[in-house]
Amino acid sequence: VRGDRVHLQQVLLNLLINGMDALADIRPGDRRLQVSARLNGGGTLEVGVTDSGPGVPADQLAQVFEAFYTTKASGMGMGLPISRTIIEAHGGKLWAENAAAGGAVFRFTLPVVQKETAPV
Ligand SMILES: Nc1ncnc2c1ncn2[C@@H]1O[C@H](COP(=O)(O)OP(=O)(O)OP(=O)(O)O)[C@@H](O)[C@H]1O
Ligand SMILES: [Mg+2]
Repeated sequence: VRGDRVHLQQVLLNLLINGMDALADIRPGDRRLQVSARLNGGGTLEVGVTDSGPGVPADQLAQVFEAFYTTKASGMGMGLPISRTIIEAHGGKLWAENAAAGGAVFRFTLPVVQKETAPV
């Protein structure tokens, strides 16, 4: 993929910190945070960040991306809207799901560059 390394790093970091926050009330031995990446059909890379926290209430899966939506005492509610803006600026999508086993999954896609161009 091609993109702004710092911005893409910020997206992954936002998702990881959210995942870690979601594990705060989970027994230490049951805390899982998994990052996966795979090539999808259709020339996209799909990255997933899965946690073993409480998940996102089904009716909030869209709202969590709204600016200033937060359930945290010291949250700003800007991590996800900024992350979505960054991913969309790179031609991808970012969305939330709940894992079958419980816990949240945040996935984003990025277009795969077929032919590497010379660095500038
Ligand atoms: N992995 C997750 N599991 C459960 N809920 C989540 C998860 N990630 C995000 N959320 C919910 O979405 C809300 C918005 O997340 P977002 O990252 O936009 O803001 P925030 O983490 O509250 O604050 P900040 O601006 O510091 O990131 C969170 O407050 C939380 O309620
Ligand atoms: Mg956040």
